[in-house]
Parts: sequence; C-alpha cells; structure tokens
Amino acid sequence: MNGTQLFITVLYSAVTLIGIVGMLAVLRSTRRKGEALPESTLHKLHRGENWWALMALVILIVFFVGTFAGIPWLNRAQADTTANVRALQFAFIVQPAQIPAGTVDFKVKSDDVSHGFGLYAPDGKLVKQIQVLPGVTSTMTVDLDTPGTYKILCLEFCGYNHHNMVGQFEVTQ
Ligand code: CUA
Repeated sequence: MNGTQLFITVLYSAVTLIGIVGMLAVLRSTRRKGEALPESTLHKLHRGENWWALMALVILIVFFVGTFAGIPWLNRAQADTTANVRALQFAFIVQPAQIPAGTVDFKVKSDDVSHGFGLYAPDGKLVKQIQVLPGVTSTMTVDLDTPGTYKILCLEFCGYNHHNMVGQFEVTQ
C-alpha cells in the first residue's frame, strides 16, 4: 500500500466514522426536553426514531465492513499473476497470453484513444469491465478460476472498426 492508497483507506474509514457520529448527533439533538406534545406520544416517537437510527447504523456498518475487503489495492497485492494489456485501434494485446488460474491483476494501457475493457468468461458472460484512457494505466483484479479462452471486447465506441476490437487469452489449470 503506497501513501495515496493509505490516505484513501484512512479517508474512507474517517468518512464512515463521521457519518456515524453525525447520525448520533442528529439523534441527540431531537432529545430536547420541554416539548408541547404529550409524554406518551413523545415516547412512541422516540422509540420509532431509535429503530430508524439503529437500522441506519446497521446499514452503514454492514456496508463499511462488507466493502472494506473489496478495496482494489488490498486485492491487487495478493494477485497470483500480473497481465499487461495494450489497447489500441483495434485490438487488445495480452501479455502473457497464457495465465494460470487464480487471481489476475490486469494493467491496461491505451496506445491511442479511450477504449472499454470488457472481460468475458469462456461461457460468454461479462466478468468485469473498466475504462481505458490514454496516458493512464487502468487496473482491474479478478479471480479467474475457470480454465478456458477468455475474450476481451471493447465496450466504448473508438472508431470505425470498434466492433472488431477483440482480444483473448487462455487461462490454464
Ligand atoms: Cu476500442 Cu471500441
């Protein structure tokens, strides 16, 4: 994890924490004494509010915990293979062309214009897709456990031959 990644990870945690503190502050601010409503109505409202707050808190915490492990660079560091991909009008060139099954870290660069990098499993289903911009290395980490021929289709119109912009590689046992 480099400095920027650490910064974003800390920021992500901090924003969640601010969200929780903010919600508790809202909850607290609604507990002022001396309201004109009858005590029984207030009690009912407070109880309902407690449930809403609890639900929001649970959702926030579940999302935080559930997505934390999905932070891309945490997975990238554990990838088994790195595949370099050149995207150009009108092809994808994958190095190496044979990849052992496991976690693959794709590093995709464009020679010319913006392309869409759409990865398709041997059964034809879209696994994942990212944008590829000139001058930037786009990264994508995926678990490729099924051996076979994977296809890459361009998913962004990039010129007269866009529909023929295809690449492929083999995943071996
Ligand atoms: Cu590259 Cu469409």
